[in-house]
Amino acid sequence: MSLDSQDPRAAGSDEPTVELEFELNGSVEKQAVPTSTTVLDLLRNGFGKRGVRSSCERSVCGACTVLVDDLPVAACSTFAFDIDGTRVETVEGLAAHDGTLSAQQRAFRECGGFQCGFCTSGMLMLTTGLLRANPQPDREEIREWISSNTCRCTGYEMILESVERAAELAREREPDEESS
Ligand code: FES
Ligand code: FES
Repeated sequence: MSLDSQDPRAAGSDEPTVELEFELNGSVEKQAVPTSTTVLDLLRNGFGKRGVRSSCERSVCGACTVLVDDLPVAACSTFAFDIDGTRVETVEGLAAHDGTLSAQQRAFRECGGFQCGFCTSGMLMLTTGLLRANPQPDREEIREWISSNTCRCTGYEMILESVERAAELAREREPDEESS
């Protein structure tokens, strides 16, 4: 990461910029941003990742959750310079290139784990991080993981069922992947 207060990309501002290099949904990206830029601003406005929702913008609601090196992070409350050299994942990276939905996405659709859908991208990223950390979480662990993301529509029961179903689908998929 290099700091350059003369960088012309900080147009109209004296704010210094930082040069970032990071992986976004599998692609290496380089970008210069003002030092005060958040990951939320960078992903939504710099890269068009509108699945990174913006709501409270103060680490309360969880709508902006993305994965950074497999761990859930509130994008609204993380400076962009903190993701230099990391691997960032958003909901846009979950489906395969041919549009095939991931196990998590299929599970949420199958179990009706959303109503308006506003919290769903964050829930899907939390599910992804959880299943990497523990492919067989119990309900208490699932409840704890998703507690950082507020859903204003559901009673959470169908979300919990969706995460359990996602774990099942991911386990069912493993033998296929090993034989391919
Ligand atoms: S928008 Fe980031 S936690 Fe609410
Ligand atoms: S489905 Fe509407 S906020 Fe969760």
